[in-house]
Amino acid sequence: MAVSTKVLADPASLAETFAADFAAWVDAQSGDAITVALSGGSTPKRLFELWADQYADQIDWSRIQFFWGDERCVPPADPESNFGVAKQLLFDRITIPAENIHRVRGEASAEQECSRYEREIQQVVPTDQDGNPEFDLIILGMGDDGHTASIFPHQSEFLSSQAVCEVATHPQSGQQRITLTGRVLNAAKKVSVLVTGAGKADVLADVIGRQGAFAEYPVSHVEGDDVCFYIDQAAAAKL
Ligand code: 6PG
Repeated sequence: MAVSTKVLADPASLAETFAADFAAWVDAQSGDAITVALSGGSTPKRLFELWADQYADQIDWSRIQFFWGDERCVPPADPESNFGVAKQLLFDRITIPAENIHRVRGEASAEQECSRYEREIQQVVPTDQDGNPEFDLIILGMGDDGHTASIFPHQSEFLSSQAVCEVATHPQSGQQRITLTGRVLNAAKKVSVLVTGAGKADVLADVIGRQGAFAEYPVSHVEGDDVCFYIDQAAAAKL
């Protein structure tokens, strides 16, 4: 896995650097149906706020079709909802057609929603030569156990699943989640993994260095022609 890394001083400068890179990348895209999958958790919150504060008019958001790499099976109003967070911090503050936002319906039955979301992806996202949905960009995070999206170490079979989405279970809370599979993550034209915090330094050193227990970490298996880790100094401490 040939990945590139960008180490930034702190979470704020990581968000600023990624936001600037993203804006330049959007400008460089042709067409008006750029497909982007967002990550959840806490790291992207600062990015969403920055997009709304500084890029509301700098990016033509109507060109982007937003999806999620994973979603918790909770209603949008739940603070755990990745869609709910993005709606509050970003979508309610920029101009973007509602039909460009392809949320996972966390309030629905997990199995039924997994199938529905998979069908929506297959309707909107073009496929590569192998029939895989090929996102233009997938933004990911990494947990301190090396999970990414909601592919956790105890469900690493999702890395090689032939499905587009799977119903995952959080190893500690048991919370159900819908996640893209490794098949889709690895078909993306571009992947950006945003990693912050000292708690991730040991795992990240193994992942980037392809050393120690790296193979046990799902994020180690994210491959592609353009995979870049955006890392703050705290998470980069052991690199
Ligand atoms: C989620 C995710 C998950 C997240 C990592 C990192 O829904 O939680 O998408 O993969 O990106 O757990 O989360 P933090 O940014 O909160 O550390």
